[in-house]
Amino acid sequence: MSHLDELQTRADQRIMHTYPPGKAAFVRGQGSVLFDGEGNAWLDLLCGLAVTSLGHAHPAVADAVAEQARTLVHTSNLYLTEPAVELAERLAEVIGWDDATVFLSQCGATANEAAIKLARKHGKAQHDGKVRVVALDGSFHGRTLATLEATGQPAKHVPFAPLAGFVDHVPHDDAVALRAAVTEETCAVLLEVIQGEGGVRPVPDDVLLAAREACDEHGALLLVDEVQTGIGRTGPMFAFQERPVVPDVVTVAKALANGLPIGACIARGEAAKALEPGDHATTFGGNPVTCRAALAVLDTIEREGLLATARTRSERLVAGLEELVATSPLATGVRGRGLLLGLELAAPVAGDVEAACRERFLLVNAVRPDVVRLAPPLTISRGEVDQALATLADALAAVAAATSPTTSEPS
Ligand SMILES: Cc1ncc(COP(=O)(O)O)c(C=O)c1O
Repeated sequence: MSHLDELQTRADQRIMHTYPPGKAAFVRGQGSVLFDGEGNAWLDLLCGLAVTSLGHAHPAVADAVAEQARTLVHTSNLYLTEPAVELAERLAEVIGWDDATVFLSQCGATANEAAIKLARKHGKAQHDGKVRVVALDGSFHGRTLATLEATGQPAKHVPFAPLAGFVDHVPHDDAVALRAAVTEETCAVLLEVIQGEGGVRPVPDDVLLAAREACDEHGALLLVDEVQTGIGRTGPMFAFQERPVVPDVVTVAKALANGLPIGACIARGEAAKALEPGDHATTFGGNPVTCRAALAVLDTIEREGLLATARTRSERLVAGLEELVATSPLATGVRGRGLLLGLELAAPVAGDVEAACRERFLLVNAVRPDVVRLAPPLTISRGEVDQALATLADALAAVAAATSPTTSEPS
């Protein structure tokens, strides 16, 4: 029995069935490579869903975690610790907001949950009914009840309906609809500037500008969810930094601590002061170990100039993907920014392409039926980019051959 089969049998018994069966099982990682129980080396162009941006087992993160784990692991937020305060200071610095305040949480959903509560409190201070949120179709904001409701994917709501009903969704590319949806009852517009789970789908500038203007006009807050796009994934530290709007609140998580569970809700201006003692809390937020890991990530990105490296790798990867579009009948386009890219396909065969890549020990993911997502580490080497492109070309050819209409023999 393979390691995967053995683990799956045990998981079926004891792990709640919220996930489909595992597609592989890994025991170790190093840089851009994961190793399975049989010793196979897999090239990881997914980074655990855009998380391990410095690659697996990065020594700076490993050392920071080990040292902090031997020093102080947890105190709760009844007490102050240096790593939490230092991380909040660093996040304020990297986002460039003098007046920023930060709420530290455990993941993307809990960062967004804090942002939504903050916006509701800010809205209610104006009038009691100012609690509604406008969000975009196709968005993904998390699986807690509030963030699930904000998520613009109705199928995910169905098993839990009725939800509270405080979110209005509009198409991701319709500035007019967004303006019309924001009213005196709206406390926030919540959006991703590139929808990650929605298929690496950029939200157009005019929608971002409409969101900013509508929020300003109605005293609402613009919340930008950078859980997937933040910390260099799309080029700049935060994706909004190369777009024409400045949000009031930004949330980050995934890549912030390179795999340790963390989230952060960063606010400026009035939003920075909206939450007061007793309004919101969490036992694990600001945990010294995860905060030290996050500080190591931020230090490493700066020290090693990883934003610049990632831009160069992105150019190479995009050029290679465009070459695939020119040569493969299945590949039709490339979208996304930096190292958050989607390869558009001519047919809903992204699952087949993902599986064909897996057979070749390459990890990518079918984020939509017709879009394959690539989110490699910012540290990926040129050679690894070329290796991934060659494997992807091979996988596309295999899927194209399997799906092209077969010529039947004359009877
Ligand atoms: C944009 C965005 N927001 C929020 C989340 C939820 O994050 P988590 O799974 O850490 O709760 C995700 C996860 O994919 C995401 O991509």
